[in-house]
Amino acid sequence: MLFFKKKTTPVPLEERLVPQNLGIIMDGNGRWARKRGLPRQAGHVTGAQTFRKITKYCERCGIRYLTVYAFSTENWKRPQEEVDAIMNLLHQYLRESLADFQKENIRVRFIGDRAPLAEDIRQLMEEAEESTAHKEGMTLNIALNYGGQQEITAAARRLAERVQAGEITPADVTEESLQQALYTEDQPPVDLILRPSGEYRLSNFLIWQSAYAEFVFMEDILWPDFKESDLERAFAEFARRNRRFGGV
Ligand code: FPP
Repeated sequence: MLFFKKKTTPVPLEERLVPQNLGIIMDGNGRWARKRGLPRQAGHVTGAQTFRKITKYCERCGIRYLTVYAFSTENWKRPQEEVDAIMNLLHQYLRESLADFQKENIRVRFIGDRAPLAEDIRQLMEEAEESTAHKEGMTLNIALNYGGQQEITAAARRLAERVQAGEITPADVTEESLQQALYTEDQPPVDLILRPSGEYRLSNFLIWQSAYAEFVFMEDILWPDFKESDLERAFAEFARRNRRFGGV
């Protein structure tokens, strides 16, 4: 309970050891299911339950921004049956968890290209964003049809269009203006990227935002089994890192 923050108590000193901005690649659902002789979709169902549990815990730990990778721009390559199962889970999750967000003081945002998503999912996404916009606790970014390269390309295109329209000049294309044009806009940089399941890569996740992030790869656990104590293990490892941001 070292990192635990109760809403009613002052922020304990240990909170400085908790990352302000955390990204999680929720990996290993398929392998978790296969190990149990179950269809891959069963891994996503349990993975979605884990996601709900860990989201709440992150808020209570004092994390300010949490981004989870729910569906990448590359995940459309999966069998249609699996894509449908993930979309159905999202639909169900969005309907059920609105109450969670309200209760836990969580502000929800979706990052990614919404255009190819089904109309009913898009509506639920907007509803979740609008009804939690005033929340002052943790901001939860759900990355859905998200890809870091796509995000940067879209941001560059938006700035190019503004130059063409005469609103800004090429000299106004700066790190700051490009960052503002990303889905995450004025959110601070990512401090820690967490990936269970033994894969050691970023997979096109938050590539701009994680320029100086620390990485914790947890090869001994698959996402559906992920527990609060695993998060605390990752925070303990994060607290041991000496972050220099290019300095000495
Ligand atoms: C990665 O595991 C997981 C995904 C691509 C989907 C993540 C989806 C969920 C956790 C459930 C739905 C999400 C929400 C927000 C309700 P994998 O399938 O690549 O696992 P593998 O590498 O073992 O095959």
